[in-house]
Amino acid sequence: MIMGFTSTLRRKTLGKTGEAISAIALGTWGIRDEDRAFATLVKGIELGLDAIDTAEMYGSGKAEELVGRVVKHVGRESVFLITKMLPEHLRSRYEVLKYGRASLKRLGVSEVDLYLIHWPHALLSVSEQVKNFEVLMDEGLTRYIGVSNFSGMELREAINSAKKSDIVLNQVRYSVLNKGVEESLLPVAREYQVTVQAYTPLERGGVLKHPKLVAISSKLGKPVVQVALNYLLHDPYVCAVVKTEDLGHLMEIAGTFEWALSPNDMDALKRI
Ligand SMILES: NC(=O)c1ccc[n+]([C@@H]2O[C@H](COP(=O)([O-])OP(=O)(O)OC[C@H]3O[C@@H](n4cnc5c(N)ncnc54)[C@H](OP(=O)(O)O)[C@@H]3O)[C@@H](O)[C@H]2O)c1
Repeated sequence: MIMGFTSTLRRKTLGKTGEAISAIALGTWGIRDEDRAFATLVKGIELGLDAIDTAEMYGSGKAEELVGRVVKHVGRESVFLITKMLPEHLRSRYEVLKYGRASLKRLGVSEVDLYLIHWPHALLSVSEQVKNFEVLMDEGLTRYIGVSNFSGMELREAINSAKKSDIVLNQVRYSVLNKGVEESLLPVAREYQVTVQAYTPLERGGVLKHPKLVAISSKLGKPVVQVALNYLLHDPYVCAVVKTEDLGHLMEIAGTFEWALSPNDMDALKRI
């Protein structure tokens, strides 16, 4: 184990910050019913799943507004707030500030905890994007910055381009059924102590139908969802972001922390 990295399943160290955040954040993409989502997010925070992930893109700003209502309800200090900026808004420091301020207005806060570049801009260099994005730190709109959907190479470039702040996290698609980042990205994240946050960790319900996962879960007597999440959380550098607007589903997700996989189970899951 790497010194300084929180290894418990429940909370994970964020990059090199020394700050621990919920190992499972709650996502806000594709919300169907805002009232149910509100109740589920509030309950999740009560249960200690107190990091929320949103983005200016989700619901064209509606998700940030919903998260703003949740934050108002539970109190700003009770939530670790993550939002993401579209790459097309990274063309200048002026635009970054403009769109950053608009997101913060929808969220009803003066500062988020973590601001991510949603995915790399196809035409701007990574260093230009990071340089412009850092204005959010300069102007106090966020406590930390990070990236999303960056490859290992792009992450390395982003880390080397960040002049005033560390890149603390890379949010990427990763699940027990979709392990591509293990070869390409995780070694770079470990080298630079960057947290990897796995999105779509349930494959939007796909894990529930996978015969091998179902077999392992019934052998263990644990829900498939918990098996899939525990696989990811086993690595001290990895945390996850799951979306639910269903209280029953939330309770099942929260139960992930009550047990851990054995080395043999991990081996079996690695082979899927
Ligand atoms: N950075 C990026 O580019 C990016 C891309 C995609 C997603 N994300 C973030 O990651 C979050 C999660 O990813 P995701 O929404 O794509 O997929 P996901 O979390 O893998 O799956 C969400 C789906 O699983 C269902 N679900 C949740 N818990 C369940 C349970 N216990 N049993 C059965 N079904 C369950 C949810 O339905 P119910 O709501 O009915 O529970 C929802 O339909 C997003 O909300 C977003 O915040 C980021």
